Amino acid sequence: MKIKYYMYAACLFLGMNLLTACSDDDAPVTEPTDPTEKPDEGNNGNTEDIDVSNMTLKEACKDKFLVGAAITYDDVKDNPTDFWANEQEVLKKHFNALTAEGAMKWNKIQNEKGVYTFDEADAMVDFAERNGMKMIGHCLIWHTALPDWVWKNKNGGDVDKQTLLNNMRDHINKVVGRYKGRILGWDVANEVFNDDGTYRNSPYYRILGEKYLIEAYKMVKEADPDCELYYNDFQLEFTPKRKAVLRLIGQLRERGIELDAVGLQAHMWMTTPSVENYDNLFQSFKAMGMKVMITEWDLSVTSKENDIYPNGLPKDIDAKWNQRMLDFFKVFLKYDEIITRVATWGVSDSHSWKNEGCTNYPLLFDRQQNAKPCVEEMMKAALADK
Ligand code: G3I
Repeated sequence: MKIKYYMYAACLFLGMNLLTACSDDDAPVTEPTDPTEKPDEGNNGNTEDIDVSNMTLKEACKDKFLVGAAITYDDVKDNPTDFWANEQEVLKKHFNALTAEGAMKWNKIQNEKGVYTFDEADAMVDFAERNGMKMIGHCLIWHTALPDWVWKNKNGGDVDKQTLLNNMRDHINKVVGRYKGRILGWDVANEVFNDDGTYRNSPYYRILGEKYLIEAYKMVKEADPDCELYYNDFQLEFTPKRKAVLRLIGQLRERGIELDAVGLQAHMWMTTPSVENYDNLFQSFKAMGMKVMITEWDLSVTSKENDIYPNGLPKDIDAKWNQRMLDFFKVFLKYDEIITRVATWGVSDSHSWKNEGCTNYPLLFDRQQNAKPCVEEMMKAALADK
């Protein structure tokens, strides 16, 4: 036990130092050379001769990581329309881990105090089990999708500390307890830190201070001692924010709670982040003995402020999009020993939060639910990667 603690402490110390050595966000994190490490280009060898005509993503990645997708209720409903029936087939074929895009959030499950609605979440957990997939719980403590009653009193002010703690405990006990043994792991907390590493001024932080976070992890552990515990956030390529997560990992460890993995949301754009940002990010977590997951991967080419491709993607942009996805996937393969899951935030372009106010093309399957060219290349790269 003691040895394990010292190893953690050493990893944490090394990780912190690597981060502190970074004076700006893009500076590479240097690390001693490890002779067993895969070459920088991702060790993808020659993929020309690999036949993937009968291959699936989850099969190609079976020795690497889970392949996940965020789903809506339509993805699992009985008697689906042709469109959703087809999407269910895509899910069953290529994916082995599911995350509820919205169905397990606080406002979906307990929008009104004491009134719980589990229909959609139940259907998803059933679907995952019927199809041999892992179900991921998303998410318990988040400043968004949070009903006012949780933190607001009758006069419109903040509730007192004990009331908020009670609300958190009741919700966590009920939700985590319901799916005990059926959920692989929970995104216990989501998007807690600002880019500069300070705590987001959420109702939780305002009322309870930093301690709310540790309390939340303790509550989940009590409700289901065997489920995995995750922390999920975006843009951890920014060093101050990453440091805040490293600090949290240390604080939890001091209290005997081990985070099983950090979720990197990976909502990307065509110019940012860089592949090198991610390489550095993985190195930092690897140095502290921490597993990571890609939890909400998508790649946007447009936005509601600038809806430039309403009638389809030009060929050259489409080719760049596919290449960029493949480049990132190769970095995921390079760090497969610390990556436990690679999940996209949706299945096909027809349904994505990135379509709000524009026509976007962020996912691995197009609007007709056909796999985009990079999927084949990703399977080849996974199979070539030893
Ligand atoms: O279900 C109602 C529907 O009845 C109503 O008619 C409609 C009118 O706007 O709203 C529907 O609810 C929307 C819900 O998505 C389902 O589509 C909510 O308004 C909308 O706020 C909600 O957005 C979700 C958002 O989280 C907030 O929960 C997005 O779909 C979902 O993709 C997004 O996911 C988050 C991750 O959880 C955390 N990381 C960032 C990611 C993107 O914001």
